[in-house]
Amino acid sequence: MNSSANHTFQDDSVAKTEILEFDGNINPDVTIPNNRSILIISKDQSFLSHGIHKFPAKFFPELPRYLIRKYSDEGMTVLDPMCGSGTVPLEAMLANRVGIGLDIDPIARLITKVKTNPLPSNELKRIIPQLRDGIRQKIRKHSYSPAIPSFHYRDKWFRDFVLFELGIILECINETCEDAPNYSPEMRDFLRIVFSSIVRDVSNADPHCTRTVIRKKQIRRIQPGATIELFLESLCQQKEAMLELLDYCQTNDVSRTHLPMATATHIPLAADFIDLAITSPPYINAVDYTRTHQLEMYWLNMLDNSPLSERKRKYIGTETVYKSEYKDLRISGYKSLDPLLHSIHEVDPRRSFIVYKFFEDMSVQLSETVRVLKPGGRYCIVIGNNTIRGHEVHSHEILSEIATSEEIGFQLEKKFFSLLIRHFIKIPRPERMDGEWVLILRKPE
Ligand SMILES: C[S@@+](CC[C@H](N)C(=O)[O-])C[C@H]1O[C@@H](n2cnc3c(N)ncnc32)[C@H](O)[C@@H]1O
Repeated sequence: MNSSANHTFQDDSVAKTEILEFDGNINPDVTIPNNRSILIISKDQSFLSHGIHKFPAKFFPELPRYLIRKYSDEGMTVLDPMCGSGTVPLEAMLANRVGIGLDIDPIARLITKVKTNPLPSNELKRIIPQLRDGIRQKIRKHSYSPAIPSFHYRDKWFRDFVLFELGIILECINETCEDAPNYSPEMRDFLRIVFSSIVRDVSNADPHCTRTVIRKKQIRRIQPGATIELFLESLCQQKEAMLELLDYCQTNDVSRTHLPMATATHIPLAADFIDLAITSPPYINAVDYTRTHQLEMYWLNMLDNSPLSERKRKYIGTETVYKSEYKDLRISGYKSLDPLLHSIHEVDPRRSFIVYKFFEDMSVQLSETVRVLKPGGRYCIVIGNNTIRGHEVHSHEILSEIATSEEIGFQLEKKFFSLLIRHFIKIPRPERMDGEWVLILRKPE
């Protein structure tokens, strides 16, 4: 562990003390003092299956790895109720804890399933030549036309030849995986996730923005043939990662993971069942997950014809709200939140309601987590602050007040600040986050 004091903060509430710097893993024997700032120089963002798919605001594996080892023992149960790309379930599994992951987002659920399911090595070794041959055969067929899903503005999102190549890849994935019993059912999920991981890269969407938008100056130059090449390259790379995952699982004690279809506000578990929970909730008003993953979901047939807005409303942190909901000021009764709701309401009633709704949903979420945690169990929440209509939202303080309220009943054991260097998330300048608070909440014995 190295320490350095050469950093400054945008957030005034952060203790201006020496920063604890960790070069990779944090030893679980280390106790991070209350209010201290840490900086993790992450080494493992692509360790085993962690790097299989991009995901906004993904954990550095080192942080949940530390929390899992610090606050649970082997064989215990670790829940992430908003697991995104599955960093916590995978780390729990690798640490021989039973990982449970929930997420409302279909792409998140599929990534997590694939990441935590090692595939047989003989299948992994066979699949690439078989797919490559299948793709070549279809390309050579004169005027072959693969099935291509139809969706809004499809021909604006993708060039013709990209649609053609993606269509062929998807057809070959489906045909190859129908070849049971040569392939286990999980192979299809793995191939679909590798396919999904390249969809954005070959689309006309701005590659520098989490939201899926077309900006004329940011359209990538893609040559015919490049989509298939990129898919096969990614497949070779992810095959190696999956072989490493398999090898790890064969040489270490690991647990299985469970990924029930549920949301963070209705957890399908009995009371007092979980030993530890860890999560990073969405940022208010920052990432529109449905929009971010819409192209991948269209291709993987994960969207029905219902409007995207209906889906979006169910996400915690949603911006999709009805006018009737924000006509009047809504207040919460929490002293760290209500003055903020008032101030934002004066300039923007809609945003005031979005903030209100985020904390209302998080309050339901906290009640659910305290219910399923065993007495004495901890809930580690990693949450960033952001600025809304010029007002700094100290989410960690508001969440702490809600979590420790009489109705919910957590105790705040400690909090520390984890500095971040983000690449994938793009938020307008003043709303940029430079770190996240880690709250360690404890259910009383
Ligand atoms: C910041 S991301 C989590 C990223 C994750 N820690 C990782 O390493 O990939 C927040 C996640 O919360 C999910 N989410 C939002 N509302 C939810 C809900 N009601 N129930 C479950 N998950 C939800 C989003 O889909 C998103 O995947």
